[in-house]
Amino acid sequence: MQGNFTYHNPTKLYFGEASLEKLKDELKNFGDRVLLNYGTGSVKRNGIYDEVVAILKAGGKTIIENAGVMSNPTLEKLHEGVRIARENRVDWILALGGGSVCDYSKGVAASVCYDGDYWQQFWLDGNQPASDQHILPVGCILTMAGTGSEMNGGCVITDAANSFKTGHVFDSRLMPRFSILNPRYTMTVPLEQMKAGIYDIMNHIFEQYFSDFDDNTSDYIAEGLMRSLIHSSRIAVKNPQDYEARSNIMWTATWALNTLIKCGKSQDWMVHMIGHSLGAWTHAPHGYCLAAVSMAYYRRVMEKGMPKFARFAQNVWNIQPDGKAERELAEAGLEALKQWMLEIGLPLTITELGANRDMIDNITSTTVIYPAGYLDLTPDDIKQILKESL
Ligand code: NZQ
Ligand code: ZN
Repeated sequence: MQGNFTYHNPTKLYFGEASLEKLKDELKNFGDRVLLNYGTGSVKRNGIYDEVVAILKAGGKTIIENAGVMSNPTLEKLHEGVRIARENRVDWILALGGGSVCDYSKGVAASVCYDGDYWQQFWLDGNQPASDQHILPVGCILTMAGTGSEMNGGCVITDAANSFKTGHVFDSRLMPRFSILNPRYTMTVPLEQMKAGIYDIMNHIFEQYFSDFDDNTSDYIAEGLMRSLIHSSRIAVKNPQDYEARSNIMWTATWALNTLIKCGKSQDWMVHMIGHSLGAWTHAPHGYCLAAVSMAYYRRVMEKGMPKFARFAQNVWNIQPDGKAERELAEAGLEALKQWMLEIGLPLTITELGANRDMIDNITSTTVIYPAGYLDLTPDDIKQILKESL
């Protein structure tokens, strides 16, 4: 294994149907005034909000509410949350919702005590908060599986006025202090969002798996996670109420992006960069944006990463080499991926998400380009990938 790394993940997880009971114990660790962030109504409809508020009140907490955190939270909403937190001098933040609410809560937590333009400082310039800056603690009660936000420092915000979506990965000070994961809560997630979450998980693994050629334990862990996800996703799309499948999907989501499987690796993340830009222009669910550009992207990357794609075919999709040439094997792996995506009902074109040929220049110009796993993309490559995904 190559590469040097530091592994530190301070998030404490409570998992399972009884996990909300642990919130009561956690309350002792935080101040009296809590900012309760939640989304646009699902937690009220399914009753989770009532359960959480009852526990907070029984624990003597003063609740300051911030409702309406939308999917793909906006910069405007971030400003609102920071203002509410400052005016009410909150001690800590509790996120109740999916990845959007968890991400958003970290963004508010980092920005409340930053004296300056936090958007510029953290998201545009990519800086970490200074070592002496106060950061509000964040706890999460997760209601949807996908992003891994419950155990990482990621925080993606959309500047809707400029159709620009960008993320910042904060250091471990912004990782949730605790996260409560009850798979039962994910049962009310609309089917489309469940499928978007499943592909988001898969693509997080890809972004860390498709890089480097050395022998690395992280890749073996990634392959195990992919196999579990493929298995459980097939059950969950047929029966979304299958607890075993939903619990495995939730657990896989956490491990797919909680800083473990990137250890000792360079990473890719260009499907995410294109997907974020596509999302800013179409407002389609995050996981769908990733799915819609993936086939064109990975066909291109395969040319530079052939041995890894051949390994993917064998170790993830059980395709037997049987004298096949490396390219044949690699292509069979991608074909298996495509068939799985079709089987669980994911979009394979950006057209299905409302994008068209005229939008390609704009989507390209707002895509952040990083040095990637096997292939350093140019804006022309991105245009081509988008065209092939129409
Ligand atoms: O607004 P509410 O009522 O909460 O409804 C949400 C939303 O409409 C609904 N939902 C969530 N839990 C539910 C439920 N509906 C019924 N029952 C439940 N139990 O589902 C919809 C989508 O929720 P959202 O939180 O937006 O989805 P997701 O978890 O996919 O989060 C997406 C955001 O996370 C970012 C994305 O870019 C996007 O902004 N990401 C964060 C990452 C990270 N922190 O590392 C990495 C990811 O790659 C991703 O970029
Ligand atoms: Zn993602």
